[in-house]
Amino acid sequence: MTSRTRIGFDADVLLAAATAAATAPTAPTGRGDGARGGAARGTGGGAGGAPRRELARAYRELSERYRGGSDTPEDARLTDGHVRAYLAARLPATLAVSRVVLAELADRRPRWQPHSLLDLGAGPGPATWAALEVFGEITGVDLVERSARMIAAGRGLARLGAPGPLRTGARWHHTTAQVPPVGVAADLTVASYLLGELPAATRGPAVAAWWRATTGALVIIDTGTPDGYARVLAARSALLADGATITAPCPSDGACPLPDGDWCHFARRVERSAVHRALKDAERGHEDEKFAYLIASRGQPAHAPGRLLRAPRAHAGHIRLALCVPEGQREAVVARSRRDAYAWARRARWGDPAPGSVTDPAAPTDPAAGGQAPRTV
Ligand SMILES: C[S@@+](CC[C@H](N)C(=O)[O-])C[C@H]1O[C@@H](n2cnc3c(N)ncnc32)[C@H](O)[C@@H]1O
Repeated sequence: MTSRTRIGFDADVLLAAATAAATAPTAPTGRGDGARGGAARGTGGGAGGAPRRELARAYRELSERYRGGSDTPEDARLTDGHVRAYLAARLPATLAVSRVVLAELADRRPRWQPHSLLDLGAGPGPATWAALEVFGEITGVDLVERSARMIAAGRGLARLGAPGPLRTGARWHHTTAQVPPVGVAADLTVASYLLGELPAATRGPAVAAWWRATTGALVIIDTGTPDGYARVLAARSALLADGATITAPCPSDGACPLPDGDWCHFARRVERSAVHRALKDAERGHEDEKFAYLIASRGQPAHAPGRLLRAPRAHAGHIRLALCVPEGQREAVVARSRRDAYAWARRARWGDPAPGSVTDPAAPTDPAAGGQAPRTV
């Protein structure tokens, strides 16, 4: 998957502000200005800021809640500490994933430009930041979020450097995202890491309502776990039945070919700030965020010929690729002698769309590489 910035706005500005706000003396959810104060004072988390151990406790509570799965209770249980912990330790990853997925949508549908955006379960708004980065013609933004504290954090951050559609023109709706607010519809609807927070019985009706509110593309992002994949797969079936075509990650609108026990997911490397590391008691400066996703569109199909289901495996003289193609799953062997395909495979990353030169079952294989013909399972 490629990641590209199409307009001048760079969401890293807001990411840095969010990290600063997490440890700022003033609560990021205070009457609007907490994020501004936090960003202005740097990322220290020292004098006057939220003590790290309180933040760490809030982060543990958040993680337990996410591990617990659906039916997360109401707004009242999301404290300032939880919001701070989210800004420091979850938002970098959810922003990174939104960027990748929305860039994939832009790549698959290069002539399509949304003008309106609906961000469901928006949190402080990272999916909106990513959408504004990728799609420069969005002018109308509706964000739906049930936590007043998340909304306050999002509003405060937006004042720090978001483009106009978010800074001055956004409509934040403090209500449930299970059904979009009456009269709200958008060219592009995003539900990033929301589905898993909804009670299981409400997910089907919610996805149907999101689709009805969408005139162009609906993006659903979930965790890269078997449960996250199962939720995405259920949404996929329902959306196909409702007339959608799946723009990504699938190379077709046919049944998912993955066998029981496997799950379609991808990974994105995310840099960790000092406070992020501290909250997770982690030493490494990065983590790999695993995610599952779906882009459902109205209109003509825009599938990639195939998609990489794993990181490429390099061997002497050849590279092995685990591909999802319209016919099913395929292991492809790309020999060095296939110059273009080999050059692509060397640069390719897990989750990338594969070009026809790589997915073509008639493509020659190199006897020196073992002579394996591509195999579809
Ligand atoms: C895991 S966070 C994801 C936030 C953001 N979309 C992102 O990608 O970082 C889930 C958000 O959905 C909100 N949420 C959960 N259930 C909701 C509901 N029924 N209606 C509106 N918001 C909801 C939570 O308050 C939280 O802010």
